[in-house]
Amino acid sequence: LTGSEPLTILPMTLEPEAAAQAHYKACDRLKLERKQRRMCRRDPGVAETLVEAVSMSALECQYQFRFERWNCTLEGRYRASLLKRGFKETAFLYAISSAGLTHALAKACSAGRMERCTCDEAPDLENREAWQWGGCGDNLKYSSKFVKEFLGRRSSKDLRARVDFHNNLVGVKVIKAGVETTCKCHGVSGSCTVRTCWRQLAPFHEVGKRLKHKYETALKVGSTTNEATGEAGAISPPRGRAAGPGGSEPLPRTPELVHLDDSPSFCSASRFSPGTAGRRCHRGKNCESICCGRGHNTQSRVVTRPCQCQVRWCCYVECRQCTQREEVYTCKG
Ligand SMILES: *[C@@H]1O[C@H](CO)[C@@H](O)[C@H](O)[C@H]1NC(C)=O
Repeated sequence: LTGSEPLTILPMTLEPEAAAQAHYKACDRLKLERKQRRMCRRDPGVAETLVEAVSMSALECQYQFRFERWNCTLEGRYRASLLKRGFKETAFLYAISSAGLTHALAKACSAGRMERCTCDEAPDLENREAWQWGGCGDNLKYSSKFVKEFLGRRSSKDLRARVDFHNNLVGVKVIKAGVETTCKCHGVSGSCTVRTCWRQLAPFHEVGKRLKHKYETALKVGSTTNEATGEAGAISPPRGRAAGPGGSEPLPRTPELVHLDDSPSFCSASRFSPGTAGRRCHRGKNCESICCGRGHNTQSRVVTRPCQCQVRWCCYVECRQCTQREEVYTCKG
């Protein structure tokens, strides 16, 4: 999850003894740029949170794209090729990565896993009359500041770098937009004489859903490469502006995802994805679209599953085993 390559530290495994070792080692094992490594070493909680954030973001990406042609395959070479280009998928990857880090850090602060941050502080004093701020809110203020610095404050002239940074910020903004105030009542038999409230982040699934929607409505900004030929050129600058590969292109001020290139179809194997041959699909739902008109194979198989489960007092669940015939659909090659 470096500024230039989100999710690249994914295939890293932290062995149990490594966690007990100095956190410096944990930071060194991650693929980080120099400034990022410095920030990682400053707080023993950062390395662990980074790893957690990356796997959370990757899982959410795969969940959100489970019915699509591109199913968020993050295997090394596909990911590397994808990140080199400016597709909508690339934009989503940047945004979900920075959202994941913002989310995980804010939670790590309130969970007491960090040294340099704790709970969210009470906001403006006016609110104190209505209720008492208390509990332990997720520290979004600290985490969003950290993430912006971690991913680099770029005022780059390079359009590509600005697009990536913009999409990173969209991820942080989606987290901010999802903050909810949660309250709990105290007092005799729930009389609620005292109410304690704190700020809580929306569940990460909610964030994934919002970013998926933004992916679907992503805006295209001036392309640096010609999709058909893969060559540089063919930039259509907005009217009244000087042409040029970067610099002057305005990016939206609203939290929209932006991309530079049109996505490939992801139908057949390429350097961006393994294609959809052999992919499982759901008939009447997505077989048409993900099999790209090649049709699908139907396989019938027998599955045994627990069913008619009942809770037995106390304390176990008793199920029967049911055998069912099930059809499995896979895309033709
Ligand atoms: C994505 O699809 C490919 C086949 O195209 C499959 O091998 C892979 O397991 C799928 N990945 C996920 C995360 O579902």
